[in-house]
Parts: sequence; C-alpha cells; structure tokens
Amino acid sequence: MYCVGSVAGFYAMSRAGMLRTALAAETSLRELASAKGLLYGCANSPDRLTADPVFARLVAEQCSLLVPENSLNWKYVEPRYGEFDFHLGDSLATFAKDRNMKFGGGTLVWHEGLPQWFSSLPPPSAKAAMVNHVTQVVGHYRGHAFSWAVVNEALAFRGQGAMLKDTPLLRLAGPDYIEAAFRAAALADPSALLVLNDNHLEYDLPEDDYRRDALLKLLQQLVGKKVPIGALGIQSHLRTGDVPFSSSKLKGFLDSVSDLGLKIVVSELDVAEKGSEATVADRDNAVAKEIDRYLEVILQEKSVVAVVTWGLTAKYTWLASYAPRSDGQHVRPLPYDSELHPTAAWQALATAFARAPAR
Ligand code: G3I
Repeated sequence: MYCVGSVAGFYAMSRAGMLRTALAAETSLRELASAKGLLYGCANSPDRLTADPVFARLVAEQCSLLVPENSLNWKYVEPRYGEFDFHLGDSLATFAKDRNMKFGGGTLVWHEGLPQWFSSLPPPSAKAAMVNHVTQVVGHYRGHAFSWAVVNEALAFRGQGAMLKDTPLLRLAGPDYIEAAFRAAALADPSALLVLNDNHLEYDLPEDDYRRDALLKLLQQLVGKKVPIGALGIQSHLRTGDVPFSSSKLKGFLDSVSDLGLKIVVSELDVAEKGSEATVADRDNAVAKEIDRYLEVILQEKSVVAVVTWGLTAKYTWLASYAPRSDGQHVRPLPYDSELHPTAAWQALATAFARAPAR
C-alpha cells in the first residue's frame, strides 16, 4: 500500500507522471473511497463502454458507481408518450451489476431533458405524464438503483424574481412538480436515494451565494412538507482561473443541508480550464489544485456519501465541445487523459479520499 502525501508535495516530485501511473496501477479510486465508506463513480454512455473495451476495464477498475450521462434523460427513455425505451439504461445497469458496481439513475425531471411532446400537453395531463414517467422509469429499476437524480436544475438564477426556474415543467406540471416527482419516485422504489440536483453552488460569487441561500430555503420547504428527498446533488462543475472560493461558506452550506437530515452527493465533478497555464504539467496542476481545495472541504462533511466525476477521461468529456481551450489544446478536466493515463487530478482525488474521515 502506498502512502498518500500532500498534493503540493506530490506535484513537486520529479517524474510525476510516471509516479502517478505507478500509484494508480497499485490501487484504485474506488478502493480509496470505499476505505472511507464513500462511493466513487463516473457518468458514462453505454456506446463508449461497448466500443472501447480498454476504457470499459478502467471504469470497472476505478469506479464503484455508474450513472448515465444522457441515456436516461426523459426524451430518450420516453420519446413518445407512454412508449418507453430502456435499452440504453439497461445496458449501463447491466454493465454495473456485472462488475460489482452500483448503478445510479437520472435525470428523471429536467427541463433540458424533456421530450418535445411534453410541451404540448395541457396542464393536468402534463403533471400526470410527469408522475407516470417517474413511476415507470424508477419502477423499471426498482431494487437495482442506488440513487436517482429525480429533479435537476430547478432553481432560478439571481435576478429572475422567483425561486424556481421558469420552465415547461413549472408552467405545465405546476408549482408542486418537484414534490410530486419525489413522491412518485419514493413510491416506485423506496430503497433508492432520491436526489435533488443543482449547479452553481460551489464558489464565493454573488450568484452562488444567492443560490446556496435559495436552495436551502427550497430544501427546508420540501423537508418541512415531508417530501421524500434523500440527498442534495451538488454538481461541482469547477473551473481553474482563481475563481473566489470560500471554505467557510461552502462548509456552512453543507452543514445546513446535513442538519436537514439530508445526504450529499458530489454529482458531476469536473474542471473546465479557464486559467492562463500553458504547459500540460501546469494545466494539470491547476486542475488538481481546484479538485483538492474543493474536496478538502466537501469530504470533511460526513453526510457526503459519493463523489461522481462527469466522465472519467479527457477522451470522452462534454467540456471538449462546451468549454474548449482557446489555444486548441484538448481539455484535461478529469482523472485520466485522452490516452487513459492518470493525470494529477487522479492524485488529487486519491489524496482527498485518503485524508477524508471515515463515514
Ligand atoms: O446523440 C446525439 C447524436 O445522435 C447527434 O449526432 C449529435 C449531434 O449534435 O448530438 C448527440 O446528442 C448530444 C448528447 O449530448 C450526446 O452526446 C447532444 O447534442 C448534446 O447537447 C448533449 O450534451 C449533453 C448536455 O448535458 C445536454 O443534454 C452532454 O453530453 C452532457 O454531458 C450534459 O450533461 C449535463 C447534465 O445532464 C446536467 N448537468 C449539467 C451537465 C452539463 O451540461
């Protein structure tokens, strides 16, 4: 077993890449997380797992949790009202089961995942359609899903004048659509961890301050109404470039969420490169340091049960098209690079798990 040192110390070593490779070969993120009672997982799509067996082996070796990146979004699962297509989700769930990994489902209710037909329904039918969707999909995986991202990105942004985002879900399924979705999910599978997932909660920025406050109010309301919500999913799309970060604000927020009796899941961790670093080593260090300072706070919180990265390797990442580098270099936002070699981000995750208190 190797000894995990500080991230800064590690990066100062010579031949850091070779050492990382050696360490990653000796142990896995799933083992390091598991030693602390945590799950480590990644989002994925079944076509990549089928087409790229080397990558598939890496996923199974490093991850104890597998979640869909897109496959279980509403528009793919129920492309026509009442017609369900589970083949993509089933492929992921089977991959996970065969490799002793947990499977997490989602996203059930997300305005960007809606099928076109939803928006032409009259309000009473829209709510019934949403409840039916949640019931059928969660029911299909009953007893097999560790967790569900039940509602995603429901919170409005600062200055929008309302707590909830103005979406077809709010307009058609009604202001209690979140509550209805969670109640349907709990009935369909009482054993799954039901997650409310949202973003822009991580930094010391006015927007994130606003959203932490608003989300706490929303969670307080839901818990007060005994809505069967089990966890907050904090997406954790981080970025380099010295974005203001406050350990105490983040910790205060996580404490308040825990005090409501909720678990916390880091649900979509990755790091967009927004800094001025130019060499691969400097870029990797910046990404790793961002993960390091973030997880140092997050993993102190005992109610955090899982860390999921949004992908595992730079070979397959939404950031390559969504946040490409201006110099044309391929992004490096995850624990493995495009050649499936561990990056400094792998070491940052390993270090964070190793120093986390057990839960
Ligand atoms: O599958 C089609 C393909 O048939 C078609 O040829 C191609 C042409 O553009 O599009 C493919 O679909 C793309 C899909 O990803 C699968 O790769 C969509 O265009 C593209 O918009 C979609 O992007 C996804 C995005 O959500 C929007 O749904 C990203 O992969 C996915 O990583 C991203 O994930 C979201 C989370 O679900 C919620 N939180 C934020 C996160 C980032 O936006």
